[in-house]
Amino acid sequence: MTKAPPLVAGNWKMNGTRDSLWEVARVRDAVASGGAGRAEVLICPPATLLMAAAALCEGSPLKLGGQDCHAEPSGAFTGDISAPMLKDAGASYVIVGHSERRAGHQESDETVRRKTMAALDAGLCAIVCVGETAPERKAGEALAVAGRQIAGSIPKSAPPQRIAIAYEPVWAIGSGLTPGLKEIAEMHGFIREKLFAVWPGQGGVTRILYGGSVKPENAAELLSAKNVDGALVGGASLSAEAFMKIAGFYR
Ligand code: 13P
Repeated sequence: MTKAPPLVAGNWKMNGTRDSLWEVARVRDAVASGGAGRAEVLICPPATLLMAAAALCEGSPLKLGGQDCHAEPSGAFTGDISAPMLKDAGASYVIVGHSERRAGHQESDETVRRKTMAALDAGLCAIVCVGETAPERKAGEALAVAGRQIAGSIPKSAPPQRIAIAYEPVWAIGSGLTPGLKEIAEMHGFIREKLFAVWPGQGGVTRILYGGSVKPENAAELLSAKNVDGALVGGASLSAEAFMKIAGFYR
């Protein structure tokens, strides 16, 4: 099984109104002219913009994704959005288990695992987020936390090429702080081992993204670390220019 190309994904979080669709169009055009080389580029805008963004991206290699999905395909869940709805709106990916959802919406590994299954059942690829808090890293528990989250959040029956893991240390998100290259290589190597434990012989095809304060200034260094197959970018993905500078690493 061959490994998918690197993935540079933008998570807009709760940012963006229709004006922001210009940024999607700019990224679309930059990707079309080879600005990300061999990498796959993905934008996960708020759900309110998905259909309009999909119309702009028709026929473009720029992919779109959701930021979360419900574990059920439909039903009485006011305010929630299901994986089939995201697919119908033009998404091909969905982020699940982001730390902002694990912390702010009390999502357990079991919930994340069910959401991952729902995403796969709907024909989406899932980006499953893991990562330790600052106290957990200080206590020397970073690897154990990520290992537990992977074991609990990834369904064994999932096809490894349709899952990407995003390692996002909680303390690096939006803080301007990043782990050292040694820490990143250690964590990504550890995650790779865990993936081989889930899928013996096939854990090498799953992409492992780094996320947390990825900026144009540090992207080349972060993306060149061993077992880093791309990035999940928050703040810097809101600007097409900054986002394409990051994706441009793969040109
Ligand atoms: P920042 O790039 O803004 O630190 O956010 C990272 C993130 O949470 C992406 O999902």
